[in-house]
Amino acid sequence: MITTSYHRFRSLVFVAIIVAFLYLLYSKLIANNTSGPPYSLYAALKKQEQKTARKFLESLQLIEAQKDNPKFVLFRQQEGLDFGSQACYAQEILLYHHLALQGNRIFIYQPFEWKSRKEQLPLSAFLLGVTQERAVPSSFVEELCPKTSIDVARLKVDLSQPEMWKSTINTLQKRKETCIIMSNPIIDSNFLSSPAGHSVWPLFQKYVARYFRWSTQVLDIVDRTHTHLDLRRHFYSLEGEPYMVLHLRRGDFHKQCKTIAQQQLGFTKWNTLPAISSATLFPRLNPANATSVMDHCYPSLSRIMEAIDQQAHRKPHIRALHIIHDDAASVTDIWKLETALKSKQRAELYGWPYGPMKSITHSGMVPYQANEQDFSVGVDVEMARRAEVFIGNGYSSLTSYIVAMRLGGDVVASGISDDITLL
Ligand SMILES: *[C@@H]1O[C@H](CO)[C@@H](O)[C@H](O)[C@H]1NC(C)=O
Repeated sequence: MITTSYHRFRSLVFVAIIVAFLYLLYSKLIANNTSGPPYSLYAALKKQEQKTARKFLESLQLIEAQKDNPKFVLFRQQEGLDFGSQACYAQEILLYHHLALQGNRIFIYQPFEWKSRKEQLPLSAFLLGVTQERAVPSSFVEELCPKTSIDVARLKVDLSQPEMWKSTINTLQKRKETCIIMSNPIIDSNFLSSPAGHSVWPLFQKYVARYFRWSTQVLDIVDRTHTHLDLRRHFYSLEGEPYMVLHLRRGDFHKQCKTIAQQQLGFTKWNTLPAISSATLFPRLNPANATSVMDHCYPSLSRIMEAIDQQAHRKPHIRALHIIHDDAASVTDIWKLETALKSKQRAELYGWPYGPMKSITHSGMVPYQANEQDFSVGVDVEMARRAEVFIGNGYSSLTSYIVAMRLGGDVVASGISDDITLL
């Protein structure tokens, strides 16, 4: 008897050791990879960028042999941002590309720089249009715009914001030098919410429709997400549930909102476009009133529900809600929203014609594979761009990015401002 139980004990220990060993192996080899950036992919993409640019430059020589030589511009971009500012960064890069095209110059694009990353990341891993349409990477600067050449103009445009944009286009077009290197930024953080920024919009909207393209990495994950969460890929598609997206900003945003209230600031960037001025959830924002700013910047859950109710009345066939968020603090609020929005009684009480929401999903449920976390901002933006309805936060740069990409719309998004609510 004793020997059998001893044997059993021994084999149990043996199994336990093997399990522990396999677990360690798993966490070392696989789980660790999940959060690490895909550096080998980035290296390959950098090479591809070089190749594409080289081909493009060669094709220019053939076409433009008799005409003027091709001209270039390098702008002064923001540097070393943290991951969360990617939306600001991307909007700035798109605007600079647009500006370069308007100035008839080839855009010299810079890699993505994040504080938390050791190396610079290739822009084409995130945004593809910017890197493929009359653009070359900044690794070509030495070759195209050598430091000692008299054919390189280092310029500082020293004007107030309203004239800055127009004057820069003028300079880009008129200057004879092959290269222009701008030593000061053209766009500051308030530009897009100013009348000068708004006057840039109609042409930028066309730019977005024509040149904006995600990387294949972002698009692959988005595609997988639509399948995995059973959401509709395109407005006109018949598969999957039509859905609305809510952009939820919680956690640390509360502090920022308090500062914004003190400074009496209005909505940010493209969220201030006249085309969507009627999209703001009632009561209208009054920046001079701190309570009003907090209501819009850090809305209560009941205010958020009100926005969802209104859109659910407009489009009762939408029975799926996808919530984009980037912090753990949102989880309890998501759970509260889910409980309320899936309640039959509540749906009856609020007169939803087809009953409560069937599906509530969120950013945390996107089926990322190992090494894909760097793409999460792009995935969230694209999920929101494709949604039939978008409910965003007027004080958020990410919301501004989504608004611009929706209004810039192609066949995917309707570009209808009624389909946007700003909290
Ligand atoms: C400030 O805004 C809040 C919320 O919208 C409103 O209830 C209050 O009356 C406003 N105060 C003033 C002085 O306008």
